[in-house]
Parts: sequence; structure tokens; C-alpha cells
Amino acid sequence: MKYFLFLLSLVAVSASLTTAHAEDMQHGKLLYENNCVSCHSSEIFTREKRMVNNFTELKERIRQCELANDLTWFDDDIDAVVNYLNATYYKFETE
Ligand code: HEC
Repeated sequence: MKYFLFLLSLVAVSASLTTAHAEDMQHGKLLYENNCVSCHSSEIFTREKRMVNNFTELKERIRQCELANDLTWFDDDIDAVVNYLNATYYKFETE
């Protein structure tokens, strides 16, 4: 019985982690779609001579674009967009 409960709790923990991750992605996608597509479409992330070459540069660039547009995002918002753009386009190794 103890063993069963242990397994059950493992399942519960991993399920909640998966959901948090999916929500973070969704949050990043919404932020991006609502605030970022006015100047550049997603082609800028996949063009041949793109500016960003690693995960740190991606984060810096997103912060610059965010600041330049007076969005006053929280760090969590930046991270959500960094993760969304990285998972969707850049696919860098994360730090
Ligand atoms: C006011 C216009 C504007 C808005 C709005 C904007 N950006 Fe940018 N962004 C730029 C410009 C200009 C560049 C650089 C383009 C160049 O040099 O070719 C750029 C480049 C980038 C790049 C680098 C692309 C590459 O070459 O790898 C990323 C990533 C990026 N922006 C993310 C964002 C995000 C995320 C948002 C929303 C917070 C955003 N941008 C909103 C103007 C904007």
C-alpha cells in the first residue's frame, strides 16, 4: 500500500510539472502574439543571417525589444517568451 501511494504521488507531481510547463508556453505565445508581431513576423527568427546565436543572446535581445516598447514585463514574462521562441524557432541548448 505504501508503495502504491508513493507511485501515486510521483504521478501527481509529474502531471503538475507538465501542466506548468504547458501554461508557461501558452503564456509566452500570447505575450508574443499580442506585443511583438507589429514590427517583425516570425521570419526574423529563421532568416539566414539572424542576430541571435545562443540562448543568452536570445534572452538579451528579447529584453531589448521589450524595453524598447515600454512593455514593463516581469522576469517571468520575459522567460515565458524566451522559452516559447526557443522551443518554436531557435532550439538552442538552455543554460
Ligand atoms: C518597435 C518594433 C519592435 C517590436 C514591437 C519588437 N521588436 Fe524585436 N526587433 C526589432 C528590430 C528592429 C530588430 C532587429 C532587426 C534587424 O536588425 O534586422 C528586432 C529583432 C528581434 C530579435 C532577433 C532576431 C534575430 O535576428 O535572431 C528577437 C528575438 C526579437 N526581436 C524579439 C522580440 C520580442 C520577443 C518582441 C516583443 C516583446 C519584439 N521583438 C518586439 C524591433 C521590434
